[in-house]
Amino acid sequence: MRLSFPSLFPLLCLTLLFLSLALGLTQPNCETPDQGSTLQVLHVYSPCSPFRPKEPLSWEESVLQMQAKDKARLQFLSSLVARKSVVPIASGRQIVQNPTYIVRAKIGTPAQTMLMAMDTSSDVAWIPCNGCLGCSSTLFNSPASTTYKSLGCQAAQCKQVPKPTCGGGVCSFNLTYGGSSLAANLSQDTITLATDAVPGYSFGCIQKATGGSLPAQGLLGLGRGPLSLLSQTQNLYQSTFSYCLPSFKSLNFSGSLRLGPVGQPKRIKYTPLLKNPRRPSLYFVNLMAVRVGRRVVDVPPGSFTFNPSTGAGTIFDSGTVFTRLVTPAYIAVRDAFRNRVGRNLTVTSLGGFDTCYTVPIAAPTITFMFTGMNVTLPPDNLLIHSTAGSTTCLAMAAAPDNVNSVLNVIANLQQQNHRLLYDVPNSRLGVARELCT
Ligand SMILES: *[C@@H]1O[C@H](CO)[C@@H](O)[C@H](O)[C@H]1NC(C)=O
Ligand SMILES: *[C@@H]1O[C@H](CO)[C@@H](O)[C@H](O)[C@H]1NC(C)=O
Ligand SMILES: *[C@@H]1O[C@H](CO)[C@@H](O)[C@H](O)[C@H]1NC(C)=O
Ligand SMILES: *[C@@H]1O[C@H](CO)[C@@H](O)[C@H](O)[C@H]1NC(C)=O
Ligand SMILES: *[C@@H]1O[C@H](CO)[C@@H](O)[C@H](O)[C@H]1NC(C)=O
Repeated sequence: MRLSFPSLFPLLCLTLLFLSLALGLTQPNCETPDQGSTLQVLHVYSPCSPFRPKEPLSWEESVLQMQAKDKARLQFLSSLVARKSVVPIASGRQIVQNPTYIVRAKIGTPAQTMLMAMDTSSDVAWIPCNGCLGCSSTLFNSPASTTYKSLGCQAAQCKQVPKPTCGGGVCSFNLTYGGSSLAANLSQDTITLATDAVPGYSFGCIQKATGGSLPAQGLLGLGRGPLSLLSQTQNLYQSTFSYCLPSFKSLNFSGSLRLGPVGQPKRIKYTPLLKNPRRPSLYFVNLMAVRVGRRVVDVPPGSFTFNPSTGAGTIFDSGTVFTRLVTPAYIAVRDAFRNRVGRNLTVTSLGGFDTCYTVPIAAPTITFMFTGMNVTLPPDNLLIHSTAGSTTCLAMAAAPDNVNSVLNVIANLQQQNHRLLYDVPNSRLGVARELCT
């Protein structure tokens, strides 16, 4: 059989792609220094991330893995709103880590670089320290830092950590996070973010970790409760930050985390932040309705209602991958989506996604209607496609059955390529489209 040019062409393109990958031509510069108060944000699967899977996962595997991680994440979030601990999910699959975006932080004097996970729903930061049992990766060598000190039980900060204990005069605390738990000493050292040095930053120095879902090099808490980065840098950053999360499909990642009020977008739509006094760390907003195409979906009344006493309502979260709506609302949105795509098309499922198609589809936009702000999401924020292009799924789901499912979570796939501005002093959250890949 003779191969004609048109049939050779894709092969040629692939060969060129692999060649250029092998030669590093399309590799982004992983050592881009962070400037001013702006940090580069990487996806954990980015070519610059040491945490990307060693063996490339198939598309189906990576989707299932992200869904499994989300399940642990939602249990964590539900335990926050319900204020009770939940039994960690046992999973046969290895859960690599959650949340999914990391930034470069420098700790101590001289500085040691740690790639910490960004988490808008956590307050206190934690870092794996020397001597840690069960930590997997790079450790912070605290004796090598001249500015390191551990905090005593009398320190004011010791009253702000969950269930502090006192051993040998050192303030310690235990924490469960997704399917994992950690024991840490409350410590202080200088943290340097981009070019800003924050002396005396309080964080947990992890002594013991169990379970596999802790971010390998620590977590930077961007919540708005006590001991979060915001609370500790009021003078420097005035409880203001923004980020743009790159799509994990893109090889050339260049998202950013911008700390403080300087350089934030002026043209941006806002919705008020709501405060749940029982859960001060979470960023609640008022989701009023959802539109599929131009039509507002009829959801059962109360699906989105904010209720501080039950923890019900809607949050923006950087650590969950796929948006979750309470079950009756999700079913209504999904049905409206299916009707718009075409009633005659066969719907299949993939793991926790129940609206997948194996033929090309014309998808409607979905608009989240918040108080004062409509956010219309294009297909890139709504659908995931298999690498071969044969399967497309609506990348949202109902809250899992086994968790207290009163919480709607606007997750990071739906936030990608948008700038999210958290303006705590003015109690508002801004969203604007921005191409950050
Ligand atoms: C990666 O992004 C940078 C700047 O964002 C751009 O200059 C460069 O050409 C991009 N490289 C590729 C291979 O897309
Ligand atoms: C943490 O505290 C324990 C005592 O509770 C102590 O033995 C250990 O050395 C401390 N670790 C660090 C890194 O300070
Ligand atoms: C905290 O965790 C450590 C290590 O796993 C354990 O020895 C200790 O009993 C725990 N403390 C509390 C209060 O649960
Ligand atoms: C859907 O299928 C039914 C029966 O198979 C047919 O009558 C109808 O025209 C189809 N509708 C569309 C929009 O293709
Ligand atoms: C959002 O869209 C609806 C129409 O679906 C419109 O009535 C409303 O005014 C919009 N809200 C804002 C803040 O633009």
